[in-house]
Amino acid sequence: MIGIFDSGVGGMTVARAVETLLPDNQIIYYGDLDRTPYGNKSPEAIIEYSIGNTEFLLGHGAKIIIIACNSAASVASDILRQTFAVPIFEVITPAVERAVASTVTGNIGVMGTRATIRSGIYDQKIIEQAPEFHVFSKACPLLVPLVEEGWIDARETKMILRKYLAPLKQKQIDTLVLGCTHYPLLKDLIRHRMGKNRVRLIDSSIEVALTLKVYLSENPDFGKTLQHGSQNKYFVSDLTKAAVATAEKIFGRHIDLEKV
Ligand code: DGL
Repeated sequence: MIGIFDSGVGGMTVARAVETLLPDNQIIYYGDLDRTPYGNKSPEAIIEYSIGNTEFLLGHGAKIIIIACNSAASVASDILRQTFAVPIFEVITPAVERAVASTVTGNIGVMGTRATIRSGIYDQKIIEQAPEFHVFSKACPLLVPLVEEGWIDARETKMILRKYLAPLKQKQIDTLVLGCTHYPLLKDLIRHRMGKNRVRLIDSSIEVALTLKVYLSENPDFGKTLQHGSQNKYFVSDLTKAAVATAEKIFGRHIDLEKV
């Protein structure tokens, strides 16, 4: 089974991408809704939660882990890799690789939660690969609650996005990383605001699913150890109507969330 965790249901954008690209592999998902959001928490708290989430997934049969939360990936990836002896994927590295390969001007924008932007992980990883590039980061803490409220097309959301994106527009970026699980749901608005033909959006959920697909094709024996063909399971540590609605929006169908 492919274990995927997030602070809530936003990471289902990753589960959806994995389901689409690797339809034969069973997914087990854990959304830590009880402690969401992670984006405003301290690195210590996020690390502790991430270890617990990984233990839960491994305990339920996961053989591979995807950290489907940028906030968790930004502070907990190294520790999870040191602690657990299974392949651990995360949303940041594949998005960085795609951004570095895509930019022409070398001006890359990154949007994320406070925890992700404060960690400086995107800047660090991009500059490691291309020291001559310029990274412009913007913490956008109001976007997650707006998506969770379902205010995806609301006038207020458009106004807030305009404010967040203005400094990135000014920097003439040609590539923008959506460094948070919730932002793919705002993709159309962001694309419209940044100019469809001027800025390429990098969706980390798609990039991590593509990376996993390549890994499994290069490691077919490992791929055989994953369970195939059974139904995907979605667990949450708290169950709310808003979460059910967001999950439905992400998948375009009802998803059974089981509270544990
Ligand atoms: N999943 C988080 C992320 O990608 C967003 C929600 C949160 O702050 O917990 O950063």
